[in-house]
Amino acid sequence: MILRKGGKREFSSDTEKENRRRSAIFWEERNLYFSDIWFDIKGSRQDLNDKELRKRSAAFPFELAYRLINMYSVKNDTVLDPFLGTGTTLAAAMTAARNSIGCEIEKGFLGPVLEIKNNILRLARETTETRLKSHLSFIAERTAAGKPVGYKNLPYGFPVITRQEKEIIINELKEVTQPTQQSLHALYSDDPQPAFRQGADFSPLPKPVPKKKTKGRTDIQLELF
Ligand SMILES: C[S@@+](CC[C@H](N)C(=O)[O-])C[C@H]1O[C@@H](n2cnc3c(N)ncnc32)[C@H](O)[C@@H]1O
Repeated sequence: MILRKGGKREFSSDTEKENRRRSAIFWEERNLYFSDIWFDIKGSRQDLNDKELRKRSAAFPFELAYRLINMYSVKNDTVLDPFLGTGTTLAAAMTAARNSIGCEIEKGFLGPVLEIKNNILRLARETTETRLKSHLSFIAERTAAGKPVGYKNLPYGFPVITRQEKEIIINELKEVTQPTQQSLHALYSDDPQPAFRQGADFSPLPKPVPKKKTKGRTDIQLELF
């Protein structure tokens, strides 16, 4: 990786260039992510049993970290969170197939951070499936409106708008282990998820039914922490 002072990051080798293309985001995601204000991200509950930890945690929403990581890094990069808290950044980095390192002054957070390994497979699967379903839904609506879809994504075979999206693959997190007391190790699939490969259903997603307010947790961002 080469970084010019104040300049754009350069991807020099063929491997780096390929990794960048595989790490791209969908055109419609780009339009949303690089807009001035994000209205679609919900807050996150400070879901910790320990009252003292809860006072300090100030956890931010998973989607916030996940989105920023996808915008400003590529797969296999290392994301550093110097104020880790409950480990939202770590969970988001793991979901996005990035490495991550966190520092946390409060030892009591180690338990909640390591808890990530128990929930992350489901959170990661739901996150990546939501992205893929949203893309298929976007394409279905665009096609129905008679607007052009310029290219085909090669791993999945579904339409995309720009050339930059042709090689996107959202690697599925397959396994998380804990090799040492303070680290987790993640394994990913290099194959596209079969349910989203060519021939998958491109029909629009049903409109979401407004949820009734319950005492239970309703947001997947809250599942981890
Ligand atoms: C706002 S919280 C981080 C929340 C985190 N992003 C999350 O979603 O859970 C800030 C964290 O930084 C930690 N912290 C404060 N000063 C620190 C320091 N000097 N070194 C390491 N961690 C520190 C606090 O204990 C606290 O957990």
